[in-house]
Amino acid sequence: MNRLEGKVAIITGCSHGMGLRAAQLFADEGAKVLATSWKMENLKEGLEGYSENIELFKLDVRSEEEWAAAAKRAVELWGKIDILVNNAGVSNKCALLDETLEGWEEGLRLNLTSQFLGIKTVIPYMQKNGGGSIVNCSSLTALVGSMDNGAPAYCSAKAGLRALTRHVAYNFAKDHIRCNIVYPGSVYTNAVAKYGVSFEQMAQSPFATQFHPLPPHLGDADDMAYAYLYLASDEAKWITGVDLPVDGGANIM
Ligand SMILES: NC(=O)c1ccc[n+]([C@@H]2O[C@H](COP(=O)([O-])OP(=O)(O)OC[C@H]3O[C@@H](n4cnc5c(N)ncnc54)[C@H](O)[C@@H]3O)[C@@H](O)[C@H]2O)c1
Repeated sequence: MNRLEGKVAIITGCSHGMGLRAAQLFADEGAKVLATSWKMENLKEGLEGYSENIELFKLDVRSEEEWAAAAKRAVELWGKIDILVNNAGVSNKCALLDETLEGWEEGLRLNLTSQFLGIKTVIPYMQKNGGGSIVNCSSLTALVGSMDNGAPAYCSAKAGLRALTRHVAYNFAKDHIRCNIVYPGSVYTNAVAKYGVSFEQMAQSPFATQFHPLPPHLGDADDMAYAYLYLASDEAKWITGVDLPVDGGANIM
């Protein structure tokens, strides 16, 4: 119950899915959590009243000003920042030949530039504090390219996040700042549920069974939240720059 006792965390994209579950888990494990998302009403729906360790805060990850305000709020409340989980991300499904320059740039902005802004914002606080842990959320599509003619900007941005992770891990190790990256396979969250498919239907689909050999062939928000938790915690104190697929074995294929 106390794996994050004494830690202060900022988590992005906490309205739904992995971010929502991570905010709950981190708070249960003793962290003070600035749970953020771009829409306050959705944040409140999922997290209001869950724990006194959680403060809700509006943060559209595309905004440098909102990043600065979020960091300032965490420090005002709790005096420091130990952990950043760059969870928020959005897949903009669009075939490459149909993609516009605007769509491409928005995909990069949401899934790579925003994470850069977050990292750039929190590192000075972590340096002052003597260290920290940054966890980035990529996607298996970063390793394979999205296969169904799907989301070229998204998978390219998520691949860029790998290089950014390694850059940060190497260059800020001297400051005791760790930076790691997780790669979800198919995970049943709002991003999937909004298409009206149940967990069981999706888990039994030919795509899920073929590409995720480990039953139930589909992940859930808990699988991701526990991966974030481990990398964020001092249990991973000598782990930096690593790639962690959380994907029921899809990376073997
Ligand atoms: N679900 C999957 O199968 C899957 C697979 C690979 C990678 N991922 C990645 O996992 C992460 C979490 O995804 P999820 O499935 O929980 O998605 P989700 O759609 O359930 O949640 C995404 C969250 O990000 C928030 N968000 C969207 N735009 C934002 C913005 N501009 N600023 C701040 N917050 C914003 C949403 O409000 C929501 O809280 C994302 O980075 C996603 O790319 C998901």
